[in-house]
Amino acid sequence: MSMSMSSNLAPIPELYVSYESAQKLKIEAGTLVSHDLSPRQICDLELLMNGGFNPLKGFLSEADYTGVVEDMRLADGTLWPMPVTLDVSQAFADKIEIGQDIALRDQEGVILATMTVTDKWVPDKAREAEKVFGADDSAHPAVHYLHHTAGEVYLGGPVTGIQQPVHYDFRGRRDTPNELRAYFRKLGWRKVVAFQTRNPLHRAHQELTFRAAREAEANLLIHPVVGMTKPGDVDHFTRVRCYEAVLDKYPAATTTMSLLPLAMRMAGPREAVWHGLIRRNHGCTHFIVGRDHAGPGKNSKGEDFYGPYEAQDLFREHEEEIGVKMVDFKHMVYVQERAQYEPADEIADRDTVTILNISGTELRRRLQEGLEIPEWFSFPEVVKELRRTKPPRSNQGFTVFFTGFSGSGKSTIANALMVKLMEMGDRPVTLLDGDVVRKHLSSELGFSKEHRDINIKRIGYVASEITKNGGIAICAPIAPYAATRRDVREMIESYGAFVEVHVATSIEDCEKRDRKGLYKLAREGKIKEFTGISDPYDVPENPELRVDTVNVDVDNCAHQVILKLEAMGLIGGAQ
Ligand code: PPS
Repeated sequence: MSMSMSSNLAPIPELYVSYESAQKLKIEAGTLVSHDLSPRQICDLELLMNGGFNPLKGFLSEADYTGVVEDMRLADGTLWPMPVTLDVSQAFADKIEIGQDIALRDQEGVILATMTVTDKWVPDKAREAEKVFGADDSAHPAVHYLHHTAGEVYLGGPVTGIQQPVHYDFRGRRDTPNELRAYFRKLGWRKVVAFQTRNPLHRAHQELTFRAAREAEANLLIHPVVGMTKPGDVDHFTRVRCYEAVLDKYPAATTTMSLLPLAMRMAGPREAVWHGLIRRNHGCTHFIVGRDHAGPGKNSKGEDFYGPYEAQDLFREHEEEIGVKMVDFKHMVYVQERAQYEPADEIADRDTVTILNISGTELRRRLQEGLEIPEWFSFPEVVKELRRTKPPRSNQGFTVFFTGFSGSGKSTIANALMVKLMEMGDRPVTLLDGDVVRKHLSSELGFSKEHRDINIKRIGYVASEITKNGGIAICAPIAPYAATRRDVREMIESYGAFVEVHVATSIEDCEKRDRKGLYKLAREGKIKEFTGISDPYDVPENPELRVDTVNVDVDNCAHQVILKLEAMGLIGGAQ
C-alpha cells in the first residue's frame, strides 16, 4: 500500500476472525445458548461484521444506546444516529447472564457470530420512538416494528464474526466496504459520490445522479438498499433487474453499482446521517441527499413526519464529522418545452413552461391499472420489468379479510362471496373461515391474546401465499386486535390488495341472535375470554368496507363486497 493512499480507501476494521479460527469457533459455539436472528438483525449483523457500521464493534451497550437515543452519540462522543440493538424476548433474556457468550444464528440455524453479552436492559421504547423517529406513532414503520415486532429486552456486547450471512441472489453485485474500497483503489477513483435508493430508477433519478457526479467532479456509485426497505416497496429482485437495465445508460468508465444489505428504518434526518456514515465506510467521499430522504410517509394525523429538507439540514450540521460531503438536491421535475429534467427551484420561467411530474403514488396507480407510463418519465426496460412483477390489479391475487364478532355473519357473507367469485371463475378462491381454520390449522390453540394472534398470523400467512400466487383468499376470523390485523395487512400488501371488511353487527344483535348458543354460555361464565362479552374487540378504524347486517340480507352484503372489489379494480375490467 502506498503512503499516499487517501484515507477513504485504506482498509477498515472488520469483526471477522481468520478463516482457521472461524472453523474452530464455529464448533465451539455449537454448545452456546443461541439466539435466532430476525431478518432485520441479520442485516444489522452483516454490516457490523463487514465494517459497514464502523466504528461499532457489536450491538450497542446500554450506555451507547442511551447516548445514541438522546444525543446521536456513542458514550465516547462519536457521532452515531441509529440504535443498532439486539432485541430479544424476556424469556430468552432471563436465561442470559452478563458476561456470557451466545451464538447468533441465521434463520436456518447457521452460526454467523458469537457475542459476549455485557449489557441487558429493558428499553423505554416510547422514548426511543420519540427521539429517534420523531414521534411515538405506530404509523411510522420503525415505530410499529419497535412496539410490535422487536423483543422487550435489549442485549449489548461485542461481536466476533464467523461468517457472512449467505446470499444466493446477485452475488456478483454485493460488495463489503473493503471490497468497494479495493475496487475504487484499483480504478484510481478518489472521489466517489454515492446514491442511496430503495426505489426503481427513473429518468429523474438518472438526471439527478448525473448532475451530482458533475457537481462533485466525482465517480458515481449507485448504492441501492436490498436489505429491508419500507413495507410495500417494490421487491429488491425486481429493482435490481431495473437497475441493471438502467446501468447501461451510464458511462461504464465512471459509474458502478453495488448492493447494500442495510435494513432501513425510514428515520428521515437521522437516517440520512446514518447513510452518510455507512457510505464513508464504503469508501465514498460524497453522498446525495434529496428531498424527503428516507421519509416514512404520513403520520396517523395524515401529516408528514419530517420536513422535506430536514434531512439535508441535519446532514449539513454534521457534515464535517460524517466525513462525507453532501450533494443536496431539490425536487427534479420535467420541463416539457426543453425536454429535460431540472431542479424545481431553479426554473426561473416556471410560470410560462409546462412542468410535468408523476408521483410515486400516481406511478403505482398507473401500474395497477395498466395505464400508460410516458417515455419522459421512465425507461421502457424499467417499465417492462415493473409491469412484469406488478400486473394490473385485475390479474393479481388479493385477500378479503372479514372481521367482526362471533355470530356477526362473517362466515355466511364470506361463503356467499366465495360462490359469487367462483361463478366469475377468473381466479382460484380459498375460504379460510374462522371455525374451519381452528379445526385444521390451529386446532391446538385457545382464545388468549397470544393464541388469537398466532391464529390470525397463520391465516395471514396462508392468505399471503395465496395472494402471491395470484389467487383470492377470503378470511373470516374474529381477529379482534388492530395491531395484528395490521401485521397481516403488511404481509399481504407486498403481494396484492388487502380488503378489510368490518362486519359491523353490534354485540347486542349478535347476542340476541346467538346462533350457536355461545353468548349464553359466555354470560354464564362457562366460556371465558369471549370476544365482546369478556374479551376486547378493536373496532377497525379505516376498513375498506363496513357492512351493516341489520335488515340487510346476506346476498346484498356479499354484493356490496363485490362492488367494492370492482371499484378497487380487482375484478372485472381487463381479463
Ligand atoms: S380469533 O380471535 O380471530 O382467533 O377467533 P376465531 O379464530 O375467529 O374463532 C372464533 C370462533 O370460535 C368460537 N369461540 C370463541 N370466540 C370468541 N371468543 C371465545 N372465547 C371463543 N370460544 C370459542 C366462536 O364460535 C367463533 O366462531 P365465529 O365463526 O366467529 O362465530
